[in-house]
Amino acid sequence: MDVVKLLLLGFCCLASAQYEPNWDSLDARPLPAWYDQAKFGIFIHWGVFSVPSYGGGETGKGASEWFWWDWKGAKESWAVDFMERNYLATFTYPDFAPQFKAELFSPGDWAQTIMDSGAKYVVLTSKHHEGWTNWPSNTSWNWNAMAEGPHMDLVGSLAQAISAYPALRFGLYFSQFEWFNPVYLADKAGGFKTQNYVAEVSMRQMYEIVEQYKPQVVWSDGDWEAPYTYWNSTEFLAWLYNESPVKDEVVVNDRWGQGCACHHGGYYTCSDRYDPHTLQKHKWENAMTIDKYSWGFRREATIDQYLSIEELVSELVVTVSCGGNMLMNVGPTHDGRIAPILQERLEQMGAWLKINGEAIYNTTPWTYQNDSVNANVWYTENKETMSVYALFLKWPTNYNLELGSIYPAPNSTVTLLGYPTPLKWEVTSPTILVKLPSLPLDSTLQWGWALKFH
Ligand SMILES: *[C@@H]1O[C@H](CO)[C@@H](O)[C@H](O)[C@H]1NC(C)=O
Ligand SMILES: *[C@@H]1O[C@H](CO)[C@@H](O)[C@H](O)[C@H]1NC(C)=O
Ligand SMILES: *[C@@H]1O[C@H](CO)[C@@H](O)[C@H](O)[C@H]1NC(C)=O
Ligand SMILES: *[C@@H]1O[C@H](CO)[C@@H](O)[C@H](O)[C@H]1NC(C)=O
Repeated sequence: MDVVKLLLLGFCCLASAQYEPNWDSLDARPLPAWYDQAKFGIFIHWGVFSVPSYGGGETGKGASEWFWWDWKGAKESWAVDFMERNYLATFTYPDFAPQFKAELFSPGDWAQTIMDSGAKYVVLTSKHHEGWTNWPSNTSWNWNAMAEGPHMDLVGSLAQAISAYPALRFGLYFSQFEWFNPVYLADKAGGFKTQNYVAEVSMRQMYEIVEQYKPQVVWSDGDWEAPYTYWNSTEFLAWLYNESPVKDEVVVNDRWGQGCACHHGGYYTCSDRYDPHTLQKHKWENAMTIDKYSWGFRREATIDQYLSIEELVSELVVTVSCGGNMLMNVGPTHDGRIAPILQERLEQMGAWLKINGEAIYNTTPWTYQNDSVNANVWYTENKETMSVYALFLKWPTNYNLELGSIYPAPNSTVTLLGYPTPLKWEVTSPTILVKLPSLPLDSTLQWGWALKFH
């Protein structure tokens, strides 16, 4: 071997061995900066479960995407009764697939709606625990969106529509396990000593989705029954970070095997709807739902079972001030619509962020997260512009906002985002009073406000 070849080999292998397949190495990878700056993303749970789209109402309060399990696995009475009342005894869960037609699906409209919500990234279920793949997977030959139902590559269509918006990044959720996959169940019955399902299904699928759709988020789930060594998570992540087509920009979460959540991976999601209300040392994400109980669409959901825009804004503000991102879930219908109630929440969030986004995007947690005297005030900071933001969730009836954690210099300006002129404030040691304007405010300014101290 000549010297040039040796040199080339050296370069190749040094570069490609940057991350090793162990947690010490993988956990040391810096999170690509775009993710922390983005703060707000949209989660989409869509699959065959969107056909029954039923979570048991008040009885079940179930997540509709778990319907197959609730019916055939846990045998919840509300799910069993629902099937007995409405379907022939011979009806099986796969019989729902032909009804997942997505005949009204307009990926361009979805992309526009997501863009208008103020989100900076979107994460779609490529495959949930039911095993159905929303792309034409080689390893799921008769149980995917091209072979059945829509007869369309849903992942590819949305990825393409999203790519029309450079400000939006596309990500994919992926369930490691499948409730009823016989190959998985055989591995499980043997105490996960064999990896046939990983070799034949999950690992091949993860390579497929990364290579074909180049997701900038890989959101792993369904990992908790088996150790990461069974899933070969560290081997996959080393490939993802070293060699994949998204190696520089991709971010991942923390659900890579039993005990990994909140400890290993990229950003931490810990548990569903994780919202600690205190500053966290590690970057985290609050993955939550507009429907209080379900990730998949639920036809029986009543209006009080959806979070209000006030609640959503509050959730976002608290999350961001404590260093998190919020990934807000919508469950589309089986025919491909984003229901008007969800659409309204997305539009409202976008309208709110249009005015207040300056206090959210590209910010970092400040010295204090919540105010010492006013429980409705949460802080963020933009170090680049040297601004501190006090986001407040209740308008004081006397128009005097009392703050105990911030003491602006005499020459600083205090403004209300969306309001043209600076505000007056007075020192009332140990607190300050900011004099809010008494003008009627624009309706989009009614769900939470941001003061800027500069
Ligand atoms: C599917 O598998 C075949 C052969 O097994 C391969 O040639 C083809 O490229 C694969 N397609 C995809 C999309 O991975
Ligand atoms: C898992 O990783 C080990 C160690 O690198 C490797 O020997 C094995 O073939 C991998 N299994 C699968 C299913 O990818
Ligand atoms: C708000 O901050 C105080 C410290 O000033 C802390 O003791 C309290 O737990 C915080 N409240 C919430 C809801 O985080
Ligand atoms: C305010 O005054 C301080 C000195 O007291 C100075 O360092 C700072 O730059 C001034 N800020 C502005 C915005 O003028």
